[in-house]
Amino acid sequence: MAVAEGDRVIDQRMTRSDDQKMNRVVACLAFHFLTFSFSDRLIAQEPEAARHELQWFTDAKLGIFIHWGIYSVDGVDESWAFYNKKMSHADYMKQLDGFTAKHYDPVAWADLIKSSGARYAVITIKHHDGVAMWPTGIGHSLPDKPQFVALNTVYNHRVKQDLIKPLFGALREQGLKCGAYYSLIDWSYPDYPAHVKGEDRYDAKADKPRWKDFLLYNNAQIDEVSRWLKPDLWWFDGDWEHSAEEWEAAKVRAMILEKNPKAIINGRLAGFGDYATPEQNIPIETPTAPAWELCMTIGDQWGWQPQDTNYKSTHDLIHIFADVVGHGGNLLLDIGPKEDGTIPPGQVKRLEEIGQWNAKHGEAIFGTRAGLPNGHFFGPSTLSADSTTLYLFLPHGVGGSAEIKGLDNKILSVEVVGLSMPLVHRVVGKISWSKVPGLVFIDVPEEAADPWMTVLKLKLDGKVRLYRGQGGF
Ligand code: GLC
Repeated sequence: MAVAEGDRVIDQRMTRSDDQKMNRVVACLAFHFLTFSFSDRLIAQEPEAARHELQWFTDAKLGIFIHWGIYSVDGVDESWAFYNKKMSHADYMKQLDGFTAKHYDPVAWADLIKSSGARYAVITIKHHDGVAMWPTGIGHSLPDKPQFVALNTVYNHRVKQDLIKPLFGALREQGLKCGAYYSLIDWSYPDYPAHVKGEDRYDAKADKPRWKDFLLYNNAQIDEVSRWLKPDLWWFDGDWEHSAEEWEAAKVRAMILEKNPKAIINGRLAGFGDYATPEQNIPIETPTAPAWELCMTIGDQWGWQPQDTNYKSTHDLIHIFADVVGHGGNLLLDIGPKEDGTIPPGQVKRLEEIGQWNAKHGEAIFGTRAGLPNGHFFGPSTLSADSTTLYLFLPHGVGGSAEIKGLDNKILSVEVVGLSMPLVHRVVGKISWSKVPGLVFIDVPEEAADPWMTVLKLKLDGKVRLYRGQGGF
């Protein structure tokens, strides 16, 4: 990308590190008005290696998050229901008996995810309740803990099948990457300090051997999952309850990469992850992290709950998605299947509709880079990987003009994505002797309308060059 400071236009190659420089420039201009606090929750220790492996992830743009567990039997908050004392731990665990997965069809799930346009999926293989969704052999037969009951959907009850491996198989058949959400916290394990709110079992700092017992179990499960499921992506959660040292985060990272050097790790491993994970809200300025992913619910809950019908519309989800991608991020959009494995129809519909929109506009989304910094165009935008094509997402629809400021390129052509409809543009306010670019206007007729969001494609005369000065006088 080329950035102009004052009247000076600086040409730069559009590399990832330049992207980051650019982000820093923009961040300075914005006086660090970042409203998110996730940046302190990542930064891998081997940034170069991590960045290299992150390429598929930064190109992927859309992932589907799946919160599925015994909490969908009664339709209560995942794990938090007992932690926050909305119900007893014993009653929460009774849901193990009601979890059937009887209509679970991992191939159909993978088909649906593929049809949305997503390139990866992340499923809860263990939430804070400690219930494993794969047939773990770890942690249930510690010699000195005979009272410990296996918290596992597979061995204990009516499921009698590994729920995760078949899904990973079906996703991989579709060419999709597989992510495992694994909660570091395990509020059910007898050697984990926290249990329910205000009633800790013990203090990890005061009783280190007991904490070590817990780590033995937790790290052995992580190792087991590395071998059994070989996740392409590890999505940790709950790191906030303990320090990096207590979690042995560096060791956990090394352990994972030793088994699968290409695995990537989200930013919730106490500073040892690869990318940032803001939740439920879009960053205002492009984050400076090497990569980032917004996780978001379709309704208000992560897992299935009967009253959770306040779904975001397809329109709103697509506008959120475009905004995220315009800032160089991914959207990890959550679905919450019911205990029997059926996905609520309203969630299916939204995934299918997002897929229809993606099928028409994929070139403006997948494999692109963050678009123009805030202020050049009043809407999201992306750039092709070589930064010679600019895509403008029209947040207010058609029937008016799209305006761009500070674009120092000649525009070779403008068309409506998915319709191959050429549009004319005009440049106004260009002063012949000044280096300040003119203002670009593109009138967008009603016929260009997409039901959800119209996108324009601008071919530029080279790599994008931007002017961010004060006007040249
Ligand atoms: C929070 C919640 C957890 C949920 C996760 C999804 O960390 O504790 O319940 O699974 O967000 O990002």
